[in-house]
Amino acid sequence: MNEQKLPRHVAIIMDGNGRWAKQHMLKVAMGHRAGVEALRSIIRESSDLGIEALSLFAFSTENWRRSETEVAALMQLLLEYFSSEIDELDENNVRIRILGEKEGLPSPQREALYRAEERTKDNTGLNLCIAINYGGRQELVRAARILAEKVRAGEMAPEDIDEQALSDCLYTGGLPDVDLLIRTSGEMRLSGFLLYQCAYAEFEFPETLWPDFTLEDYHRALEVFASRDRRFGGRK
Ligand code: FPP
Repeated sequence: MNEQKLPRHVAIIMDGNGRWAKQHMLKVAMGHRAGVEALRSIIRESSDLGIEALSLFAFSTENWRRSETEVAALMQLLLEYFSSEIDELDENNVRIRILGEKEGLPSPQREALYRAEERTKDNTGLNLCIAINYGGRQELVRAARILAEKVRAGEMAPEDIDEQALSDCLYTGGLPDVDLLIRTSGEMRLSGFLLYQCAYAEFEFPETLWPDFTLEDYHRALEVFASRDRRFGGRK
């Protein structure tokens, strides 16, 4: 791996669980379960490679529109994930950060997320950002409100609001912008994921359905990233 061109922040939209389940004649919940399995090695590898942040889109504010059964299955998976993985993540110095409105979640999930964040808050390795009940526009509206409140409280003047101040008010405050965004299953949409943070991200859209996404696929994406010529609007 070309370490010099390793992305600092990778974001992944884990798409295709439903289609994978259909292909295997399984219920959609099994697709999401297989999706969690695929995730394990990607998290471990990101941590081993020294990537600073890995952001995963686990549940969007729009996902509430899915059937009650599917939403319940996803919520159950989240609970299971945090109870089964937290020891290993913590041992590996991973810091968990939740992106999204935790307050809008059922209380067992909400409490599990707060506990995971609290337990790992002093870890200094990979920042594992899990977006749950997350919407990119909602995140920007929230940041605008935080800034407006600060102005109202006299803590800052309107002219102090700059790109950095806004960025600090996002759920990812303090983390670098997204360098590489991967969306699996051949879909080519951002779906509002990390709208502000993806301003200069490189995009990759592998055809692989998320549950089939392997370390090999991940390495391929990282190699393609390393070979890209990023100019950030300038000229070489
Ligand atoms: C998109 O596939 C995937 C989701 C909406 C959920 C992703 C969630 C997980 C992988 C599990 C939970 C994550 C953690 C971190 C515990 P889709 O169902 O839209 O696929 P389709 O487009 O083929 O229907």
